[in-house]
Amino acid sequence: MNPYLALIQFTSALSTALKERDAYTRLHSDRVMNIATEIGERIGLPKSELLLLKTAAALHDIGKLGIPDEVLLKAGKLDEDELTVMQKHSERGESIVLTLAQDGADVVAAAIRHHHENFDGHGYPDRLAGENIPIFARIITIADNYDAMVTRRIYQAAKSHNAVIDVMSNELGHKHDPMLFAEFIKLIEKSEHKVP
Ligand SMILES: [Fe+2]
Repeated sequence: MNPYLALIQFTSALSTALKERDAYTRLHSDRVMNIATEIGERIGLPKSELLLLKTAAALHDIGKLGIPDEVLLKAGKLDEDELTVMQKHSERGESIVLTLAQDGADVVAAAIRHHHENFDGHGYPDRLAGENIPIFARIITIADNYDAMVTRRIYQAAKSHNAVIDVMSNELGHKHDPMLFAEFIKLIEKSEHKVP
């Protein structure tokens, strides 16, 4: 019996809601889920933890449900105030998942809250650093960053795989956990989720 069955069923409903609100974020979340799961498998997480990681990755941006359209769907770059509103999505996501009150929801909620922390402590919302950032959040940051850059947005052209790896390598130790990034580099070369 899967101990997280209820949580996974809620995840499916929330993902559907996200698709209705913002189809791009739903597709992005699905890709982040796939890449994050591959990282988790690569570092040998047990099956039950993989399920929680997968759930957290699928829901990492669920807090965007609460971001007003003029910010969420803005075609251009966000100004400072809009950015502050947008950055609230990680805390909003944590709150949404905590209301599920199911086994594993606290772990998933923490990963969501911290998916924009940077390894050097310059991220948000809590400026956590290094291994104080939950490992699921550190994994999701890598998958999220990769997918965001290889995907075309209205305000940003898609970058090639090699260009994205260059950018991410330069952020090593600042944005990303070096140990997890090394594992990501090894797997993405052979992954079906690698872009040209
Ligand atoms: Fe996010």
